[in-house]
Amino acid sequence: MFFASKKIVGIDIGSSSIKLAELSVTSGGAVLENFAVVPSPQQAITNGEITDSILVADSIRSAFKENGFKNKKACVGLSGTAVIIKKISIPRVEPKRLREQVQYEAAQYLPFDVSQVTLEHHVLSFTSSPENLDVLVVAAQNEYILNYISSVNQAGLKCGILDVNSLALANIFELNYGKTSEPVALFNFGSNITNFLVLFQGEVIFSRDIPVGGFHFTNEISKNMGITFDEAETLKISQSAEQKEVPEETRTFMNIALDYVTEEIRNSIDFYTATAQGHLITKAYYTGGASLTVGLIQHLVDVLKLPFEMFNPAQNIRSGSKKITPLYLQQITPFCAIACGLGVRLVGDNK
Ligand SMILES: Nc1ncnc2c1ncn2[C@@H]1O[C@H](COP(=O)(O)OP(=O)(O)OP(=O)(O)O)[C@@H](O)[C@H]1O
Ligand SMILES: [Mg+2]
Repeated sequence: MFFASKKIVGIDIGSSSIKLAELSVTSGGAVLENFAVVPSPQQAITNGEITDSILVADSIRSAFKENGFKNKKACVGLSGTAVIIKKISIPRVEPKRLREQVQYEAAQYLPFDVSQVTLEHHVLSFTSSPENLDVLVVAAQNEYILNYISSVNQAGLKCGILDVNSLALANIFELNYGKTSEPVALFNFGSNITNFLVLFQGEVIFSRDIPVGGFHFTNEISKNMGITFDEAETLKISQSAEQKEVPEETRTFMNIALDYVTEEIRNSIDFYTATAQGHLITKAYYTGGASLTVGLIQHLVDVLKLPFEMFNPAQNIRSGSKKITPLYLQQITPFCAIACGLGVRLVGDNK
């Protein structure tokens, strides 16, 4: 009906790259109309925090113009350890008192002053006990959020919606795979951050942004081989692309990062399991640029004894332009999930 007017550009601001996705959702499914990925300005984003919004705005503006985006309404996603996502149980209250109650209960869990924080909540469809409501609370400090909004606004766009990257990932997962009857884990391996969430019966029951990613591999190579970060990045990528022989020791240094990253992932899974009330993870899906790291996924399978399958965000999304060929879609697959999840957000919201 009015789908066209609901279109929005999803913007995923990562520390390594910025992705823009424009989709339209029709009764026949989602259509990817346009997509762009550009390198992030150096040192302007760390662990999900924007430290230089002018540089980020410049990158968004040029990516938008050079790739022929037209729609200026944007949905931007927050991520990193500054965003807190927590499932809490609160006593059942009348709907009109819910917000107040959530504020009160959440204040006890938050490591910062609630007056400086934006808080959202979502009531889960199932509860751990009949007299309680299970609520997913999302909180972030206002100052941190403002940097995102101003980056988008300074780029000449209008920040229509703020979302959270891991929730956008859940959204796009469901659009492609439907609701899962067993708890499944989703991992988006980025540069600084790995978004980890657990989905069960169409709800996010756990989410944590783990501060590990592709950066750690490049950094180990750079530090130990005495080469620049960019040189180390080239060595790392050419190793995974098997383009050329890389020095033997590269592998040794990558293994140091591999152990570290795996340990952090394992700790987060253990933390989830300890609080999961029996909802054990049966399978994991992966995406993100760093999921291309040589040996990473196989190592996780071996260590965690969990099956890992590549998440294909394009399983249920068709191409809506000549630019988006099957080959292009394949190339952007590890990078596009979150931007696509942000891009379908408005439509999903109005269902
Ligand atoms: N072919 C490849 N082999 C190994 N690593 C790769 C490859 N291509 C990209 N990467 C790594 O993927 C990471 C970038 O992925 P992505 O764009 O998903 O991160 P980001 O969203 O910018 O980061 P974050 O969300 O952590 O801020 C970088 O660390 C990069 O080195
Ligand atoms: Mg990312």
